[in-house]
Amino acid sequence: MGDLTLAIITDIHHGPDRGTKMGSAALPLLERFAGFVSDLRPACTIEMGDRISEVDADTDRLLVKQVAQGLAKIPGSIHHILGNHDVSKLSIADNENLMQHSFASHSLDLEGYHLIFWNADDKLDMVKGFSLGDGDLEWLRKDLAQTDLPSIVFTHVPLDNGSMKGNFYFEKAYPLHGAYPEAQGEAIRDVIERSGKVILCMNGHAHWNAYQSIDGTHYVTIPSLTEMFTTFPNINEAYASLRIGESIEIEVFGNTPLLYRLPKKLPNRHWLNIHKDYAPASIKPA
Ligand SMILES: [Fe+2]
Ligand SMILES: [Fe+2]
Repeated sequence: MGDLTLAIITDIHHGPDRGTKMGSAALPLLERFAGFVSDLRPACTIEMGDRISEVDADTDRLLVKQVAQGLAKIPGSIHHILGNHDVSKLSIADNENLMQHSFASHSLDLEGYHLIFWNADDKLDMVKGFSLGDGDLEWLRKDLAQTDLPSIVFTHVPLDNGSMKGNFYFEKAYPLHGAYPEAQGEAIRDVIERSGKVILCMNGHAHWNAYQSIDGTHYVTIPSLTEMFTTFPNINEAYASLRIGESIEIEVFGNTPLLYRLPKKLPNRHWLNIHKDYAPASIKPA
């Protein structure tokens, strides 16, 4: 198993400046990111969705074309995830045509790691919020069942149902729009934990830095390229590198810089948890 290096970018939000999302800065910042990737020389780049801020279907087609041209300047291969703003006015098929990229969930093995690009349904119902699609969970379960490698799951939406305290969008304005509902999140994490293989889950969507470890699996939110709610009146200008060797190192660049050095969860090892039948539960909680 060698070292794996990846470049990460998310929530580009190309389009009009809207609230704290500075879409007009997206293309120049994307060019800066292309320079970062050419210096980093990663195995591949992962872009985790919300490439545009939607306007209407015709405008959005143009915005996707423009952002695709910017993304084409990034050297090496790139994997894209679908974000809720990408499918607000456009269909998945529109996105596939314009991006020339499949948005079916898929996975790939690289340098001894299993990378999962899980495009679980993230069409946002403004009243009810997110909900997994039929077959999403089963796809993840099956994909994890057929690998023996340590695995990393990339999604747009966070999977840890972590705290949104202080989040500009998801604390109070849109509390149902930050993650899948609690019960669905629990079902997702049950699949992740029972596999015994997932060392890391990475996502965008919440536009800030967030971290949580559950059962030894790390859940890391990477901030948006063009957001300014945590850096007002400046734009965050965030993107990240991920290096996995002896440990997992994630460096977030931009105006909320952060360096994580995280232990790699061992296969089939679990935290003690009396609520989970897979974990040794010989010790009772105090
Ligand atoms: Fe976003
Ligand atoms: Fe999003």
